[in-house]
Amino acid sequence: MSHATTDESVRALAGALARARHIAVLTGAGVSAESGIRTFRDTMEGLWKEFDPATLATPRAFARDPGTVSRWYDHRRLGCLAAEPNAAHNALAELERRTLARAGRFTLITQNVDRLHQRAGSRSVVELHGSIIEWRCTITGRRTTPPAKPLPAFPPPSPFHPEGLLRPDVVWFGEMLPESAVEAADEAARACDLFLSIGTSSVVYPAAGFIELAHAHGARVAEINLDATPLSSRAAWTIREKAGVALPGIVAAMPA
Ligand code: OAD
Repeated sequence: MSHATTDESVRALAGALARARHIAVLTGAGVSAESGIRTFRDTMEGLWKEFDPATLATPRAFARDPGTVSRWYDHRRLGCLAAEPNAAHNALAELERRTLARAGRFTLITQNVDRLHQRAGSRSVVELHGSIIEWRCTITGRRTTPPAKPLPAFPPPSPFHPEGLLRPDVVWFGEMLPESAVEAADEAARACDLFLSIGTSSVVYPAAGFIELAHAHGARVAEINLDATPLSSRAAWTIREKAGVALPGIVAAMPA
């Protein structure tokens, strides 16, 4: 591990980003924290204080109590719609524009389900854990984007099948990740020469595995996170700062 100061790491990383052929980025809940969206491992607020998110985010929980699970997800969906992209989302959108403008490649792999990257202007977003903004029929799989107001009933009936319910189009614990997203992330991790891991605890697989894969295929890894993670030792640069502070500084320090 290097003992570079934050300023030195920022300068070195800014230079590497300006030259990279293909930048792959993995984001986690820490990137949305400054938009007021609670990280998954944070405590729950208000009405939901006594619930453990890990026990609500499972197919079994939904099968047992679809009313409670859908109500919780609808509460989170409305929170995401009410939130605004923050300086970290904006800086990543700017980094993508600058990379494409000099004919580089850019892939943004996210574990976040809030769509804030897209709202900030990011284009090549791979949603590993789906999106809470869309819901799908439990029988036909058809997707719909409910309006920005509470769903009319819990559990919500599916408009596509008389026996179906609507469920959030997110990946629950114990479910497969969308195959096309995994393939896209896998390809980017192997092909990139610079991998940025931002605001993720790097404990949930397969997402954390993409950092290892990129490193094993020769990419240099940078980590921006408030805390150390199990994969910090793979990083050429570690920046222990809020993503919304670090990223705009890094993009501003990039040579033109
Ligand atoms: P976590 O909540 O596990 O980790 C968030 C990380 O971001 C932690 O390491 C924090 O230290 C860091 N962090 C918090 N605020 C930050 C900030 N402002 N700037 C930078 N870093 C900050 O979230 P994820 O790693 O995204 O999966 O969790 C991954 C998956 O775990 C989620 O997608 C969800 C959950 O299980 C599913 O639902 C399948």
